[in-house]
Amino acid sequence: MFEQLQDLPPDGLLALIKLYRDDARPEKIDLGVGVYRDSDGGTPVFRGVKKAEHRLHETQDSKSYLGPEGDLGFVAALRPYIFGQGDAFGDRLRGVQTPGGTGAVRLACETLAKAGATKVLLGTPSWPNHAPIIQATGMEPVTFTHADIATETLDFDALLTAMKAAEAGDVVLLHGCCHNPTGIDYDLNQWAQIADLVAERGLFPLIDLAYQGLGAGFEEDAEGLRKVLAAAPESMLAYSCDKNFGLYRERVGALYAISKTDDQAATLFSHLLSNARANWSMPPDHGAATVRVILTDDEFRREWDAEVAEMRARLNRMRAALAQHGTIGTVDLAAVGEQNGLFSTLNLNKDQVMALRKSHGIYMAASGRINVAGLNERNIPHFVEALRSIA
Ligand code: LMR
Repeated sequence: MFEQLQDLPPDGLLALIKLYRDDARPEKIDLGVGVYRDSDGGTPVFRGVKKAEHRLHETQDSKSYLGPEGDLGFVAALRPYIFGQGDAFGDRLRGVQTPGGTGAVRLACETLAKAGATKVLLGTPSWPNHAPIIQATGMEPVTFTHADIATETLDFDALLTAMKAAEAGDVVLLHGCCHNPTGIDYDLNQWAQIADLVAERGLFPLIDLAYQGLGAGFEEDAEGLRKVLAAAPESMLAYSCDKNFGLYRERVGALYAISKTDDQAATLFSHLLSNARANWSMPPDHGAATVRVILTDDEFRREWDAEVAEMRARLNRMRAALAQHGTIGTVDLAAVGEQNGLFSTLNLNKDQVMALRKSHGIYMAASGRINVAGLNERNIPHFVEALRSIA
């Protein structure tokens, strides 16, 4: 059987973790995989998470199965952050816990494919795992340009054109905030136009929200996507707690789905459970239970909120520090100052990316994507000098 298989290259992004670890140069900089780093380059467990884990340890009296829906207390506790306090969806909105945001995207795509969807509009560049997940569930990604990296500008017309050319029932995948990999988001006016077009064309919005709180703030980061959810009769939203709770390896996510009626929502929920069961049976508990403990305790919640605010402020400081260097060769660092979240994609070719790695110990995705959190006051001069040397 296995002699039929041929070697596959390792995932380019995840391979960087090991390459960086094995590099002995003290001046090396990790701008690869999307984990937040503090100014010392660490990714410590949040203080609020430690406290919540402690409480969980003290109070959890069973680790028996919860079911394919996972921890519904966690799902309910997140809801107001995403959809707003007292949202208007009532029982039309249902959610399940998933293994990370990836599990949520996977469950969304699989359920949509089984319901008859065949095409997903996907702005490129996108998170490199989006297209493989769409294809793995038997749908076709229909790509359009999200942003032009050479000019660091959003190609909003490309999205509008793609939406106008799509057929009713086609899915449009939208990054809720802090676009991965460009950091280039829609403004509120553009979100309103997307909402209008979604309604007019009968498109199905699938929103991927993996960085809420790392852009402008929790409310601000959800404001645009809420316009789309309000305009569409049906939608799905895949959520990740990896970054904004620092729970990466715990795999904490949720999929929310809004249906036209309460009855349809109940039917859809039964399909989400059945598809989850066939994939992973039940999601891992610990991370989601920790998030539930944080969000349902005022003191823990305040502490966590303050930690996310610190992360956001640091990211914005790093962006501002880079922006001061203006343009270096083909790279517009001033634009990085205007972008949001963990990532920006620099206008570098593969040779330049490799030269930065080989000659300067700077690790970034082959696409030129940088994780801004890998930068700090001490290593920015080395980074900028290295860019100058390969420009
Ligand atoms: C990233 O884009 O670096 C993260 O979302 C990690 C991943 O799973 O790719």
